[in-house]
Amino acid sequence: MHGVFSIPFPYWHQSSGVLPPSTPTTSLSHQQLDLLQAQQTAPSDTDAIFVEPVLGKGGYLPAPPEFLQGLRERCDKHGMMLIVDEVQSGVGRTGAWFAVEESGVRPDIMVIAKGLGNGFPISGVVSRRELTDKLVPGSMGGTYAGSAVSCAAAVAVNKVMCEENILENVNTRSHELFSALNALKYDPPPKTTHPRRARARAHGRRRVRCPKFKR
Ligand SMILES: Cc1ncc(COP(=O)(O)O)c(C=O)c1O
Repeated sequence: MHGVFSIPFPYWHQSSGVLPPSTPTTSLSHQQLDLLQAQQTAPSDTDAIFVEPVLGKGGYLPAPPEFLQGLRERCDKHGMMLIVDEVQSGVGRTGAWFAVEESGVRPDIMVIAKGLGNGFPISGVVSRRELTDKLVPGSMGGTYAGSAVSCAAAVAVNKVMCEENILENVNTRSHELFSALNALKYDPPPKTTHPRRARARAHGRRRVRCPKFKR
């Protein structure tokens, strides 16, 4: 898309597989951003940085807090806006109302959807009054904008989230899941001499062992 530039997400695996898992990719991604802004889109020509605090379709990867903090610093320094896409990660899915909260970063604009209506089509653009006041009435619309049924669904979702302590439950279940996964991670794979299993191991098809379970 013209005028849109991207950098790799701060995760070693997104570096074309050339970096080892221990590589501190946060600083690498900041360097990529600085390089991009030096070579292709100067900060003075850049309106905004758009980021998912948890990368969704790209692999379900949480952005390290220091990466988001670095983006905030650069946006503040150069007068760019930080737009956080919480369409997938928002409304309790990470155990907080919004995933960006963990980093302490305050975005200028946040876009939300999916969990907001819990199945009903509704989305939202959240921002500061000084920005939203610039929108003249009628300048932002959409086919489904202002659907009373979807708005009622979002209100109901909000009520359930608060009254049924959903965030607390998400955190408890998350703790259970990660404890079980971390236990699996340290459980050594069974020794086998069966030729088919040995062949599978040689090709890397072992029991699932993900080194990134810590939380
Ligand atoms: C993170 C994220 N942002 C934006 C979108 C786009 O939302 P929409 O389908 O409403 O354009 C999606 C859709 O899946 C998404 O996952």
